Amino acid sequence: MKRDFLHITDFTADEIWETLELAKEIKAKLKSREKYKPFQDHSLAMIFAKPSARTRVSFETGFFRLGGHALYLGPSDIGIGKREAVKDIARVFSGYNDMIMARLFDHQHILELAEFSSVPVVNGLTDYNHPCQIMADILTVYEHRGTLDDMKIVYVGDGNNIVHSWLHLAARIPFHFTCVCPEGFEPDESAVKLVEDAGISTVEITHDPKGGVSGANVIYTDVWASMGQKEEAEVREKIFADFQVNSAMMASTGKETLFMHCLPAERGREVTDAVMEAPNSIVFDEAENRMHAQNAIMVKIAGKM
Ligand code: CP
Ligand code: NVA
Repeated sequence: MKRDFLHITDFTADEIWETLELAKEIKAKLKSREKYKPFQDHSLAMIFAKPSARTRVSFETGFFRLGGHALYLGPSDIGIGKREAVKDIARVFSGYNDMIMARLFDHQHILELAEFSSVPVVNGLTDYNHPCQIMADILTVYEHRGTLDDMKIVYVGDGNNIVHSWLHLAARIPFHFTCVCPEGFEPDESAVKLVEDAGISTVEITHDPKGGVSGANVIYTDVWASMGQKEEAEVREKIFADFQVNSAMMASTGKETLFMHCLPAERGREVTDAVMEAPNSIVFDEAENRMHAQNAIMVKIAGKM
């Protein structure tokens, strides 16, 4: 049976831990230029219906470093779901490639792509979630803290695709997750319920930035208007004004608090320049770990371990 990685919950807790350890191993191999080519003579098709810097470069470089060849297909190349049916692309690409990575708008489309592909499919972000990002994020926290025990992650901003993947992670490994957002911008109730049903993590959704960030080990934010919502940016800027991550917020936690952002950041909006550049900002380690986490995910689902 082929395996896909569409949601963090596609992995068991054990598989998440194995992937994190594998990511560290592969990272060390790449850093030392050890010969490690599990994807020799393999190809990866990368379908992008939305823009990308990190996802494109980290998958393309990562797959190449592991011995394979990655092909980039941009928003105007395929017209997935418009020019051609998702299920047709799935079968056509399965004939040429050993794996497919896709960044799409509609989450249903990635589910359909996986259903009709005979090769593994990796989710590189949809309107609903961004599982590779949060695997890279938790790897980064793990490296910086040395442990994931007793951890409070506070996300400040829009209850978006990033938050849904954090919630999925909280349904698999235990931690305290707080989402601080304006009213009306909460994450999907079903994702919150998933965490509550799993019963291993505490989840808190609040509209109070001051109380929410108290005791945070990590403060995380993302843009206020995601891809596909940019026409709402002006309106959102007013609604989210009290939710900016600035030096005062970082200093108010009563803890040593790391700052994280999936990037791209809109400096001066959801986060200040000072917070981005502060010594406890780990955003660039986080960005680098996209490649290492994804390499491990691909090796794992392809059964190349
Ligand atoms: N964080 C992230 O996915 O970045 P890109 O949109 O640049 O790929
Ligand atoms: N929430 C953002 C994440 C970008 C990596 C978006 O979907 O645009």
